[in-house]
Amino acid sequence: MNLLITGCCGHIGSYITDNIHKIKNIKKTFIVDNLESNRFYSIFSSKKKNNLKFLIKDLTNKKSLDDLDNIDFVIHLASMTNAEKSFGKKNKMYENNISCLKTVIRFCKRTKAKLIHVSSTSVYGKQTEVVDETCEQKYLKPQSPYADIKLIEEKMLKKENKFLNYNSFRFGTISGVSKGIRFHTAVNKFCFNAAINANINVYKTALDQYRPYLSLKDAFKVFKFCIEKNFFHNDIFNVLSGNFTVNQILTKIRKYKKNINIKLVNSPIMNQLSYHVSQKKLNRYGLILNSDIEKDIRDTIKLLKNI
Ligand SMILES: NC(=O)c1ccc[n+]([C@@H]2O[C@H](COP(=O)([O-])OP(=O)(O)OC[C@H]3O[C@@H](n4cnc5c(N)ncnc54)[C@H](O)[C@@H]3O)[C@@H](O)[C@H]2O)c1
Repeated sequence: MNLLITGCCGHIGSYITDNIHKIKNIKKTFIVDNLESNRFYSIFSSKKKNNLKFLIKDLTNKKSLDDLDNIDFVIHLASMTNAEKSFGKKNKMYENNISCLKTVIRFCKRTKAKLIHVSSTSVYGKQTEVVDETCEQKYLKPQSPYADIKLIEEKMLKKENKFLNYNSFRFGTISGVSKGIRFHTAVNKFCFNAAINANINVYKTALDQYRPYLSLKDAFKVFKFCIEKNFFHNDIFNVLSGNFTVNQILTKIRKYKKNINIKLVNSPIMNQLSYHVSQKKLNRYGLILNSDIEKDIRDTIKLLKNI
């Protein structure tokens, strides 16, 4: 079977691409990126056994995948992704991310490839003990243009329900090392700043708020599970390794870097309240995710140990 990964140079895409040989029955993998993020190094030293074919394509061009055929599965990761910087950039982000998904939907409809779409747990935002996928519309309170767009994407897929085989996975904030690692999300940014003895800026209200986090190892398990078990339900699933407060994350960081400097700051996404995201729905299908994000923290800090 053949696979297409879009956004292959990104934080998640580069990890999946590197580990693709661990997914049974994948013969060839086409990997696509527009290299806008300049992460050429994500495809350096690729393993021969992964049998990759790299294509530079901008998916905002709706015909960009027209020359591809014989693909069984698509993992769609191409996206502009910085939630905090999405304020004031909504139009550009909307234009890019929605156009990319349109191109991928058009491709999947034409080739009958099954689609794995990645959304985000940032679509939740209202305080309640635990949020799950069945939560009412009123509990979906995206707090950034980035999260708004994720909800629009989910709705686009639902509308195409009859013509597609897909899953939308609401990923928690990613932790872990990959070739295309970025440092703009909570865990990684904290690790980077801890490693270089810079201030760790923490949103004032966030210290004791629970948020969902997802180890790259668990993210990979989800892709492997879908492809190997042919798990496509035209549905939405939360995906996380655990819910943690920022304080709990900082405690984990302190185990590998004793002295860290925490500075409390204001933020445009600060008005969110505490919530736990439930992972029971995916568990019911036999997929249990419990990778230890502390190991990701250790590995990330280790990257910078001589700095
Ligand atoms: N990293 C996280 O914490 C996290 C959490 C939840 C959901 N997600 C979602 O997972 C997906 C992948 O995230 P990531 O962290 O790997 O992102 P990333 O920003 O590291 O990578 C995205 C990749 O997409 C490429 N890209 C962007 N626009 C493109 C276009 N028009 N054509 C072709 N390629 C394009 C970029 O060049 C980049 O290499 C995104 O949909 C993101 O919203 C990420």
